[in-house]
Amino acid sequence: MVSRVIPVDPFDLVIFGGTGDLARRKILPGLYRRYWAGQVPDGVRIIGAARTEQDSDAWRVFVRAAIIEFVAEAKHDPDVIDAFLKQLHYIPVDARGDGGWKDLAGMMREGVTQAFYFSVGPGLFGDLAERLHRFKVACEDCRIVVEKPFGRDLASAKTLNATLAQHFDEQQIYRIDHYLGKETVQNLMAVRFANVLFEPLWNAQYVDHVQITVAEEVGVGGRGGYYDKSGAMRDMVQNHLMQLLCLTAMEPPSRFEPDAVRDEKLKVIRALEPLPPEDIVRGQYSAGDEPSYLEDVEDPDSRTESFIAMKLHVANWRWNRTPFYLRTGKRLNARNSEIVVHFKQPPHSIFDADAGSKANVLSIRLQPDEGMDLRVTIKEPGPGGMRLVDVPLDMSFAEALGPEAADVPDAYERLIMDVIRGNQTLFMRGDEVEAAWAWTDPIIDAWTERGDRPLPYAPGSAGPEDALILLHKDGRRWREITP
Ligand code: BG6
Repeated sequence: MVSRVIPVDPFDLVIFGGTGDLARRKILPGLYRRYWAGQVPDGVRIIGAARTEQDSDAWRVFVRAAIIEFVAEAKHDPDVIDAFLKQLHYIPVDARGDGGWKDLAGMMREGVTQAFYFSVGPGLFGDLAERLHRFKVACEDCRIVVEKPFGRDLASAKTLNATLAQHFDEQQIYRIDHYLGKETVQNLMAVRFANVLFEPLWNAQYVDHVQITVAEEVGVGGRGGYYDKSGAMRDMVQNHLMQLLCLTAMEPPSRFEPDAVRDEKLKVIRALEPLPPEDIVRGQYSAGDEPSYLEDVEDPDSRTESFIAMKLHVANWRWNRTPFYLRTGKRLNARNSEIVVHFKQPPHSIFDADAGSKANVLSIRLQPDEGMDLRVTIKEPGPGGMRLVDVPLDMSFAEALGPEAADVPDAYERLIMDVIRGNQTLFMRGDEVEAAWAWTDPIIDAWTERGDRPLPYAPGSAGPEDALILLHKDGRRWREITP
């Protein structure tokens, strides 16, 4: 299968924070991969802007190293890298002062799409937005891309939205949640809305419960300063897991268009019931062979959670009392993310009790190997009478669609191309972000008021024992976190 690559028109993309970690790991390697695939044409301008005083050649050295480190070796063609680097420029810019802005304005071309990637802390969003206007850098219909964390609570998210709204319309603002750029996450919409098979069963009548797991093997070492002020709730649940929940639970939008999709997601967030404390388990990894959480951060008494499991309810007709169990954590036993829909048992079994009975399970794997797996019940082959077993109808995208399907664009490169094309479907709207914080805030406030301590869990485990009990209490079990 050959994937379809539709080239975009030439554009000017300015990356504020062009010397930063996100630019090095994700944005620049992603742009190179799209160039390599023929999607980014010659004639684009990618402009790095940051405080560091250096010239374009010095930045190109940095970008070349990033490509070598983060792009697969098969794509290290020196001629292609050189041609890509020719389109790169660097301008030292002072986000809080006047330096560099006139030069930047002089670089921008009229008549091409202009995008400004704010790959900087949210504290600088207002300064950048204001200077883009004051120095007449940006054209009227330019686009800006902003990264998470989009605030740390409802009040700060509102302030950020208001700051950006002073200078840009909502249609110009692309709030990134890179989980929405993952191939399987979009496939979730295709599976639900392009097949007649699943949607009739996708409700409280047929679904017993849903599990959403985003498990990571890595700890927070190296990012302890940021992470300790956030925790799993702010870092992962408020955004990534919430988005996965929305796409799983939402009503079919009337069209695959930005506001139609985002309206439906917003309704899910607004329908979330407040969480009672007994439906949440917070954990913090304790000492193992590697440092414990408390050794990875500065505060030796930190009460920040590196693991969270919770049981949610979406209060609407479709999901009436169907539990959605969410969990995410660092230093777990494997890197594994999936959405698993557990269907109910058939209402009546025609087989003897000793035939056994199994319920259908649909799992949508986000990582590491993207694909879907539907477990169906069949008769165990052989002469042993009617005994039921469940077998997988397994579809790894790479196996089903050929090796090229495994070479899917990384979430960031897909999203950057969507910015250039002007498609906001996979970006969060301001009201969505605010609704997510409005639901999250009271939960976090309650922990702080009560002075709750997260439960310790062993690195390399599936989290604290209480997370298992959360499901056991309901007569259910988590799916194993497997590599
Ligand atoms: C980021 C979080 O948004 O997502 C990190 O800040 C987390 O803490 C990362 O590790 C996970 O992303 P991915 O794509 O590796 O699952």
